Amino acid sequence: MELRLQKLIASTGLASRRKAEMLIASGRVTINGKVVTELGTKVDPGRDHVKVDGKHLTSAQPFVYLVLNKPKNVMSTLDDPGGRDTVKDFLRGVSVRVFPVGRLDFDSEGLMLLTNHGDLAQALLHPRYHVPKTYLIKVKGVLTDSEIAQLQRGVKLEDGMTGPAVVKKVKRAEANSWLEVTIREGRKHQVKRMLESVGHMVIKLIRIRMGPLALGNLEPGEFRFLSDYEANALRELVEQRVASVERGEEAMPGPKRLVRREGWARPVKAKKYVGKKARRV
Ligand code: URA
Repeated sequence: MELRLQKLIASTGLASRRKAEMLIASGRVTINGKVVTELGTKVDPGRDHVKVDGKHLTSAQPFVYLVLNKPKNVMSTLDDPGGRDTVKDFLRGVSVRVFPVGRLDFDSEGLMLLTNHGDLAQALLHPRYHVPKTYLIKVKGVLTDSEIAQLQRGVKLEDGMTGPAVVKKVKRAEANSWLEVTIREGRKHQVKRMLESVGHMVIKLIRIRMGPLALGNLEPGEFRFLSDYEANALRELVEQRVASVERGEEAMPGPKRLVRREGWARPVKAKKYVGKKARRV
């Protein structure tokens, strides 16, 4: 099957599609020994020999990326000496060894990225690159606008000030409320500690977005492989962040949105994990 050269290069995980286009345009890619600079040249990976900087593309490792909706009361590691359920228990049919990118607390739920692409995982986790993560949380009580503004500015925790957060009101009831909180750091129990610092206990925490990835309709315990588009967006995000840090630019923008004073938006329904645990792989 023929496909566009830049797509083939990006699909091996070597570079994002945009970077692959730059590699081609700058004459670093050959097909069957000939330099090709025309974007969109079609290749057949089963027949053509593609090299980037003199190295065979076929020798590149195929990368696998998937998103799991981690259920509550599951470890976000691959093993647990205590015998508790881990994310590995939910990866039925995945024959490649993939590793979780970051952690969620045992009692937290939601989006976990797993991959065998070590460099990408490391870059996504690196505090310097500030990849945004959004959490849908249920808290005790209802936050005032001034408490929300404190979170937006950054709050003092025992391990230092937090960076600016984006906080969106979602839904409120008498005794509790739902918020969406986006942060660009990944300290231990960070969201719970931030909310505690303004006097509210987190009752439920679901990660719904990480960089360009969204949890979408995945039920707790379900996973899906990333689309080419999503994998490419992840690689591009990492490339952009690395480049902007190399240029000495501040990679962490401040919050764009100020506190919305006019009421609370419609509820976002959180899904319950009702299914049975999947078989161990
Ligand atoms: N913040 C927390 O407090 N817990 C998580 O699991 C993730 C972010």
